[in-house]
Amino acid sequence: MDIQLEELEKEIWIMLFNGANRAKDALKYFTISSLSSSGIGLRTVVLRKAIIQNREIHIYTDNRSKKWKDWSMNPITQALFYDGNSKSQILLNGQVQLVQEGKIWEDAWNATSLKSRKSYMTELPPGTSSKLKTSGLKIDYEEKDPSLEKTLEYKKNFGLVIFSVKNMEYLKLEKSGNFRAFFEYRDDQSLQANWLIP
Ligand SMILES: Cc1cc2nc3c(=O)[nH]c(=O)nc-3n(C[C@H](O)[C@H](O)[C@H](O)COP(=O)(O)O)c2cc1C
Repeated sequence: MDIQLEELEKEIWIMLFNGANRAKDALKYFTISSLSSSGIGLRTVVLRKAIIQNREIHIYTDNRSKKWKDWSMNPITQALFYDGNSKSQILLNGQVQLVQEGKIWEDAWNATSLKSRKSYMTELPPGTSSKLKTSGLKIDYEEKDPSLEKTLEYKKNFGLVIFSVKNMEYLKLEKSGNFRAFFEYRDDQSLQANWLIP
């Protein structure tokens, strides 16, 4: 394989790793899709983890959300990242695994801050309509974070989503000429790659 492609594939994974591990990184937030009988769903999420050797990325969500239902019916998913500083776009294709028990789920929950656990603490499921403007939380936690004990009542709503990358496309805009590449992980985990006309 073209040595430049091999290096680029490693670079992309380092970009994703940095996105997960640096709070201010351009790849910290990305768009992830789901597909249901009513059509395509898109939303912004936080990149929580990128495990290079497993070719997977992790996100957290409320398991009562629409996307969770969509993915439980159809796990095929796309993830789209854009870094405005380097003008590079990464498109991941793959499928998600929904995790709501076990060690990695427990570890993920334990890694969340009390403040961020408010995302899983609405009384009604995310997306429920309301006549009044509301956070959906039972108590207003604007002034202080919920107690550890309180957050545990809502732990059951916490969902870990593991996205396994099947293939990815990279596009970089450059004054000297844009370039684009495609990478695919075969079933035996070997990498196949080629350049594309941008
Ligand atoms: C900056 C930002 C970060 C977000 N991060 C997450 C996230 O990590 N997980 C999540 O479930 N929703 C996150 N959301 C909310 C989603 O975009 C979405 O509105 C919500 O999850 C409901 O999506 P659904 O109805 O398609 O399931 C984030 C929204 C914004 C604006």
